[in-house]
Amino acid sequence: MKNKKIILAISASIAAYKAAFLLRLLVKQGAEVKVILTPSAQDFVTPLTLSTLSKNPVFSNFVLNENGEWTNHVELGLWADLMVIAPASANTLAKMANGICDNLLIATYLSAKCPVMFVPAMDLDMFVHPSTNANIAKLQSYGNILIDANDGELASGLSGKGRMAEPEEIVDVIEKHFISKQDLIGKTALITAGPTYENIDPVRFVGNYSSGKMGFAIAEELANRGALVTLIAGPVDLKHHHTNITRVNVRSAEQMFDAVNEHFTNIDLAIMSAAVADYTPIDVADKKIKKQNDDGLTIELKKTKDILKHIGNLKTKKQVVVGFALETNDEEANALKKLREKNADFIVLNSMQTPGAGFRHDTNQITILKNNGEKLAYQLKSKHDVAIDIVNEVVKTIQNLHA
Ligand code: CTP
Repeated sequence: MKNKKIILAISASIAAYKAAFLLRLLVKQGAEVKVILTPSAQDFVTPLTLSTLSKNPVFSNFVLNENGEWTNHVELGLWADLMVIAPASANTLAKMANGICDNLLIATYLSAKCPVMFVPAMDLDMFVHPSTNANIAKLQSYGNILIDANDGELASGLSGKGRMAEPEEIVDVIEKHFISKQDLIGKTALITAGPTYENIDPVRFVGNYSSGKMGFAIAEELANRGALVTLIAGPVDLKHHHTNITRVNVRSAEQMFDAVNEHFTNIDLAIMSAAVADYTPIDVADKKIKKQNDDGLTIELKKTKDILKHIGNLKTKKQVVVGFALETNDEEANALKKLREKNADFIVLNSMQTPGAGFRHDTNQITILKNNGEKLAYQLKSKHDVAIDIVNEVVKTIQNLHA
């Protein structure tokens, strides 16, 4: 964070006291910070505290000092590498979402050319109100980065979501932001991850060994680079972290198909990394199937819908679609067949033959096969680094669409 220029904008919320800690951490990390305080936020934290911690004057009004000097919000907006609005009150969120420019914070927000992060803080009923939700969604759709509120004790004495993220959490997101490229801001992405489970009866299913780790790593990388991500996750025991990720949990291939189909129209890129069952039981018993006296049991299966093929057929010239292929033999030939038949922009091939690659490992070795005939082979790497390679290739493909 050394020498990064950050505007810390503080609006009126009891959480404003935490902004002083945030400021101290940012300065400690080597950032140069200028603080904007809305007039009402001065009831919660003083300009003197903030100017002392930031070693800069604090901006609160359009007029800077008693000489009547003008605070140039355009210059402030251009100066910054990042603007962080913490806490962002319900009022400030509403003004940001609608461009209501009645204070210096909003004027600077509207003038800023840099990425903007906003960190909501408010009481729980305000936080769950549809107006607040709509404002947050609108701000995200403009490419602003949400650092979501936490669950916990609130100033009102109530308990629930609305607590401002802790200063350490905010610094963590800011650090990651500066490390990663922000080349997917304004883009929307859809990713499938994990296995699907096809029920046989209430206690049994047909499944596979996919852990979902690769898909989750890609979702985090897409989000780190600014994309708004819908992660459609099969039954996996994994957590997602980035607030740009909206997770939809599904279990069966059919549910995954429906979720992808619902979200695909409006997205810029889709990466289908899930290990979707190709077959599902024709009949699902509503009671546990009991052991019989005969020697065997036959379960009849029917084909599931091919999700990748479906969206490959739907995709427009502005959308990028990526598939995976996990193969045990004739790897490249099989993957190229999938590339063609499913109309993907590229296929990420991993082979079960490679030690350390494929299901459940923390590493993977991939080859990317593109629809322009290009073939890119990579070393064995952590799934995090493989995710970076895949997303780099997605970004290149998107850039070529617009070239
Ligand atoms: N896929 C899908 N829907 C399915 C099956 C697969 O979207 N019903 C997607 C996977 O997410 C992956 C790609 O298709 O991106 C290839 O999956 P894979 O299981 O390797 O291949 P299949 O097409 O199922 O063919 P096969 O199992 O015969 O290799």
